[in-house]
Amino acid sequence: MEKRDELYRGKAKTVFTTDNPDYLILEFRDDTSAFDGEKVEQLARKGMVNNKFNHFIMEQLSAAGIPTQMERLLSNTECVVKKLDMIPVECVVRNIAAGSLVRRLGVAEGLELNPPTFELFLKNDALHDPMVNESHAIAFGWASQAQLTEMKRLTFAVNDVLKPLFENAGMLLVDYKLEFGVFDGGIVLGDEFSPDGCRLWDKDTRTKLDKDRFRQGLGGVVEAYEEVAKRLGVPLS
Ligand code: TMP
Ligand code: ASP
Repeated sequence: MEKRDELYRGKAKTVFTTDNPDYLILEFRDDTSAFDGEKVEQLARKGMVNNKFNHFIMEQLSAAGIPTQMERLLSNTECVVKKLDMIPVECVVRNIAAGSLVRRLGVAEGLELNPPTFELFLKNDALHDPMVNESHAIAFGWASQAQLTEMKRLTFAVNDVLKPLFENAGMLLVDYKLEFGVFDGGIVLGDEFSPDGCRLWDKDTRTKLDKDRFRQGLGGVVEAYEEVAKRLGVPLS
């Protein structure tokens, strides 16, 4: 597979075309951003850790029957993925209250949510990723009802796989964000699953092991990501 042109530069990843129109290369950079790109820093090793972590998680999901765009690792910071037509709506499941839910509804951080909640957000930094609902997505043509139904089903299926995976490694999967796209007419999980886009707490101490360390200036960001990887048995180099 030959790497060609830069197609898109996101906040933490760069997307490259390849000699095969059905495949792209994702490069995970060390850039770490929060608050819709307002706070940005370079954190050494983060690109490598997230690339390998994401590959490991996508393999677990794929083995559980969830369609993902992952093809293979290419290098420490790159992987090969199927080229999806991305849907600009983010799916968030919460098992425990934190982040914007706490701010929006005034509930206590740490409140267990049973059943877990499901929310949609429009992927738009300029508008600060506003919360939207299915009728918005359909009215504005971001996704069809059938696509939204499948995205919701797959987002909960991911919870069924990952909640116990993290729990068995001594961690609580507090919440996470997924992005989907279309490949050959079907809904496929795209983007990444890493501590940049989810919340993970130590099960006993509730120490934060995710991007909240960066958002809240707690330090030890990449060290926490490496700890998560180590507990799951993700091979890092
Ligand atoms: P929130 O509490 O800020 O709404 O975020 C919920 C979870 O989803 C949290 O783990 C962060 C993740 N997320 C992103 O990574 N990017 C986003 O644009 C959004 C809206 C959420
Ligand atoms: N969409 C947010 C951002 O731009 C998510 C976050 O704060 O991590 O970074």
